[in-house]
Amino acid sequence: MSRSSIKAFAPATVANVSCGFDVLGFAVENPGDEVEIELTTKPGIEITSILGDKGKLPTDPKLNSASVSIQSYFDYIGYNDGIKMILNKKMPISSGMGSSAASSVAGVFAINEILNNPLNKKDLLKFALQGEKIACGSAHADNAAASLLGGFILVRSYDPLDIVSLEYPKDLIVIVIHPQLKIDTKAARKLISSNIKLNSAVSQLGNIAGLISGLSQKDYNLISRSLIDVIAEPKRSKLITGYQEIKKTAIDFGAIGCGISGSGPSIYALSTNLKKAENIAFEMKNKFKSFDIDSNYYVSKINDTGAKIINK
Ligand code: HSE
Repeated sequence: MSRSSIKAFAPATVANVSCGFDVLGFAVENPGDEVEIELTTKPGIEITSILGDKGKLPTDPKLNSASVSIQSYFDYIGYNDGIKMILNKKMPISSGMGSSAASSVAGVFAINEILNNPLNKKDLLKFALQGEKIACGSAHADNAAASLLGGFILVRSYDPLDIVSLEYPKDLIVIVIHPQLKIDTKAARKLISSNIKLNSAVSQLGNIAGLISGLSQKDYNLISRSLIDVIAEPKRSKLITGYQEIKKTAIDFGAIGCGISGSGPSIYALSTNLKKAENIAFEMKNKFKSFDIDSNYYVSKINDTGAKIINK
């Protein structure tokens, strides 16, 4: 059945997952962004409104991550009519939860669906990356791939783009806590040297392999031992007030691991038990409070669906 308007949801994500800078990520159940699209005969993309961003995001379609992604999709498939688009930001911006990726993914997923899926889901990733490029200055795929496909993903290669969906224990519970701090991904990326020492690379490689192995074997001890980041965390943690104390709180209250979510300031922790996870989140929030920082948290399983249509 063809229709003239559609609404899609794409979830927030935790990128890097400590040891996997730019190559590991997973999706959470909530929050996430919604994009509503209406087909028009007037060529071009018109952003009718952006909700929930407190006026912070560009409404110029050449600068907004969702419309830039959709335009690159149009260029690829040769679509010459137009659309009106509403972006509903249901998650914080510059939070380290993959906000720009969620908008881009919801946009390309919605347009592909309303045009009766000329491309398959996985093929939409390259367009969402154009949105990441405009928003963060780099086309990293860890957030966008996880938001699009759901689950726990590995970016095996960027050129050619090769995304692998990883096995993971289905009872894993994720805590993501977002403090009222802002970190610009572009700036946070500049903190990381492009020259990595051999011993750091060896440590990171061992931990990535350990984490993937632990996830597939449901070996929580191995997962826990592998959630170590010697590349990004030492630089970026300085941008998050109280980071070491909050991480220690999460571990003290039973988290199997904890680290910076994406480029921060959000922090993620993993647990195997919902009740324990709620308690860890509560204690992390209290710890932020002791630094005079308000925060809000989300506790959920890993989202194994990714982007979806919500007005069927
Ligand atoms: N992998 C990216 C980074 C994620 O760490 O810069 C940004 O959210």
